[in-house]
Amino acid sequence: MPTHFINPTKLPVDQSFSKADLDTPILAVDLDKMDANVAKISQGTRDFEVQWRPHCKGHKSSQIASRLVDAGAIGATCAKLAEAEVMVRGGVTDVLIANLIVGEAKLKRLANLCKEGDPIVCIDHLDQANPMSEVMSREGVECRAIIEVNIGLDRVGCSPQATLELARQLHALPGIKFAGIMGYEGHLLTLEDQDEKRIKIEQALKLLADNAEQLKAAGIPCEIVSCGGTGSYLLSRMQPGITELQAGGGMFMDQFYEQQCQVTGMQKALTIVATVVGRPSSDRAIIDAGKKTLHVEYEPAIVVGRDDITVERLSAEHGELKLAGEAQNLKIGERIELVPGYADMTCVLHDFFYVFQGDTLVDIWPLEARGLLQ
Ligand SMILES: Cc1ncc(COP(=O)(O)O)c(C=O)c1O
Repeated sequence: MPTHFINPTKLPVDQSFSKADLDTPILAVDLDKMDANVAKISQGTRDFEVQWRPHCKGHKSSQIASRLVDAGAIGATCAKLAEAEVMVRGGVTDVLIANLIVGEAKLKRLANLCKEGDPIVCIDHLDQANPMSEVMSREGVECRAIIEVNIGLDRVGCSPQATLELARQLHALPGIKFAGIMGYEGHLLTLEDQDEKRIKIEQALKLLADNAEQLKAAGIPCEIVSCGGTGSYLLSRMQPGITELQAGGGMFMDQFYEQQCQVTGMQKALTIVATVVGRPSSDRAIIDAGKKTLHVEYEPAIVVGRDDITVERLSAEHGELKLAGEAQNLKIGERIELVPGYADMTCVLHDFFYVFQGDTLVDIWPLEARGLLQ
């Protein structure tokens, strides 16, 4: 059977394709596994009466974001204004841009976005808030804003001691609707000792909960208290005072979440399908997938169902496999499937998700926000 390069955004209706029909390398999603992961996170947040606002920075697809809303998410978390635009225009209107928005050009786009959806942006300094207030007022809109608090990641965020004063100032600014606070406990995801991880997450998120109480006591409504990624959500969801979680990448799962963050109970729904193109020696094979196809910097990729194959080395467009035992019979032209080290950074290398149920291609989802970095 010849292999096909299918690159449109919709499937030919008169033909059915199996995985083996498609040319490689491709980014493949196992829909049933993904849906099972999604149901698990969605139920797992509901169990603790926390809302779920999954991060879309990995999938960058409004079709996926809509599917997550259908499964119980309240909206999407985005890393970029452009991602939020894609999500809102794709029908997911309640979007948190977990980032700082600076400059007239972006603020005007944000004001326009307020006419189409209901975005929320992060602020950690009055110098972001004043120009935002000016542009929103001029454009006749009000945009929700939350304060990003530094709970230990030391990336962005005001200190917990500064939250109340900043909230007072934001609350008073026209064009801004103060909506709450967020923090990201990203520095605690890979702690090996699970008791230490639980205690440190409790301590970090208590800073947020205490801030929220402080604001309420001062008469400032604090509707949203947001945090959490896939690597911490199992613990973060049970912390008092948290109202929503941003865990996103868990819908695909990957080696990083499983091996380094010790996230359990999820299935590997995202793979790279690759072809063996070279057999330089009995214990080595070369595949058509390298660093420009999958990300392995945080954790090595694995080959699905093959303990006898390890991913030895990747260059830009070649992958080198080490073969043991039975795997030494691997032939040029055979296919393998790899689970990437880190799904988030792998997806961004591709234009499309090829979506399968079993071996049957059922959909193709474009990563519409890929490359939209502004
Ligand atoms: C602000 C923020 N929230 C949440 C996450 C976690 O996302 P994920 O669940 O996809 O790992 C990240 C990861 O970088 C982040 O920067």
